Amino acid sequence: MPIDITDNCNIGYLCTEKQCYIGNGNKIAFRWIDLNGLVKDYTFTELHTESSRFANVLKNLGYKIGDVFFTFLPKSTEQIISFLGSLKLQLVTGTLFSNFGEDALLDRLGNAEAKVIITKKSFLKKIIKIKEKLPRLEHIILVDIDDHLSESVMSYSKLMNAADITFKVEMTRPDTPSILHYTSGSTGKPKGALHAHKSILMQSKTTEDILQLLPDDVFWCTADQGWVTGTSYGIIGPWSLGISQIHYAGGYDAEAWFKMLAEQRVTVWYTAPTALRMLMREDDSFFENWDLSNLRCIFSVGEPLNPEVILWARRVLGKDIYDTWFQTETGSIMISNRPGLEIKPGSMGIPLHGIQAAIVDDDGTLLPSGVQGNLCVRPGWDSMFITYFNNEEIYRSKFKYGWYWTGDTAKIDEDGYFWFMGRSDDVINTAGHLVSPFEVESALLEISEIAESGVIGVPDEILFEKVVAFISINKNVEWTRDLELKVRLHVSNKASSIATPQEIFVIDSIPKNKSGKIMRRVLKAKYMGADLGDISTLDI
Ligand code: PRX
Repeated sequence: MPIDITDNCNIGYLCTEKQCYIGNGNKIAFRWIDLNGLVKDYTFTELHTESSRFANVLKNLGYKIGDVFFTFLPKSTEQIISFLGSLKLQLVTGTLFSNFGEDALLDRLGNAEAKVIITKKSFLKKIIKIKEKLPRLEHIILVDIDDHLSESVMSYSKLMNAADITFKVEMTRPDTPSILHYTSGSTGKPKGALHAHKSILMQSKTTEDILQLLPDDVFWCTADQGWVTGTSYGIIGPWSLGISQIHYAGGYDAEAWFKMLAEQRVTVWYTAPTALRMLMREDDSFFENWDLSNLRCIFSVGEPLNPEVILWARRVLGKDIYDTWFQTETGSIMISNRPGLEIKPGSMGIPLHGIQAAIVDDDGTLLPSGVQGNLCVRPGWDSMFITYFNNEEIYRSKFKYGWYWTGDTAKIDEDGYFWFMGRSDDVINTAGHLVSPFEVESALLEISEIAESGVIGVPDEILFEKVVAFISINKNVEWTRDLELKVRLHVSNKASSIATPQEIFVIDSIPKNKSGKIMRRVLKAKYMGADLGDISTLDI
């Protein structure tokens, strides 16, 4: 049944309070499993009261509709509760991946003019370092201290204890801004894709039509809530339909994951190709240890799902994997495979009912089947981003000839199936995370020994792509193992661990064109040992 938003379109309300009204109050909303295997269940009633309490925390601190709140936490119950509480109060609610370094944080919190952030003690250092450059930041709430440290660094538990569990969610309009997720491009700073509360309509619809979740399902989405999949499908879609979920604190671990699937009787599992490819490295006998009879299907997102993975899952797990395609900007699945539709291994499937996707050339002309071009989607779906926060110009540049340009290239076959071909820009997709070569290049240039840098993504068997850096170093500098370690650590601290180059090559100079633009194409050809193409205009 389509979700009913007539009384209120607020995501926080629809995922919690509304679920209690329609009889799901005593149902488990999620089972939290920590790294030691400790299990705690939260019913929809508890999710509702705890998120209301957090909405009151923010309200008591003086925040109101439109103010910007961020979570900067590893997977945790506090992250989920504060996310929903902030949405109940109609704050713009961002989530930050917990591995982000100082520069990555500053870019995002600065652009968003964040006023309040929830994090943990061990991350405080990073925020304190950049706090001076964040004049709008008023409060830092720490989940793991018992007492307030100051008027601006406060204890979550103390604030929660003092807050009421009743919170009246004000009537929220469908187009009221809701979630803010930053995404990396190939140039410039990360851009904050802002969504509206009505995005829940699409997250709910795709959970019903694509993931095909049923009331008694146990759903597990392995994505971190720092990214769009973790919020659209680790929180909103399933809870808009009152479906029970598993939330596990840990990252990839074959043993822990399969234990989870079997013991928790997961029925539908949403994960990423990198994780599936990592699982393929296990001996076939490993999979005989687990009873997966409850598992109905597996979905994946974020990077191309190679046909071998699908064939492996059929052979070893006896299950199909349904590839789905979407983006931070689209907010919900747009193109996908699904039970009931024949899978063509290697294809992303077909557009969701009501979504018009097409392949067009650079002038916006529709291309016939079999021809590779730009993957575009006709604007107007409910979970579409409404702007790039404080970056309206770049937002507008994404719309041309009546289409939203995704930045991906693809082709359609004669049966209407979409086949992903690549990106039309230099953005790197490593393990399903987009990394901006520009951000890594900038972090590298902060190191005094480095004169120039050029960063590319190259194919990787497990990660789909890996980050590779080319640098030139200053005269009289010796490239040593210590310096290499320093470089890696620096990028990890400033950008994030996922952006840290897997390989670093020292070369005499970085190829650039006459206007000084780094020719990543040439670096890539160099790495791949391919023909360098026409380099007559390059300054190399
Ligand atoms: O290039 C496509 C790739 O991931 C990009 C979107 O990344 P992001 O905004 O971080 O969101 C990731 C999670 C939805 C896309 O432009 N991508 C996503 N799904 C697929 C994919 N590439 C190939 N196949 C997919 N199924």
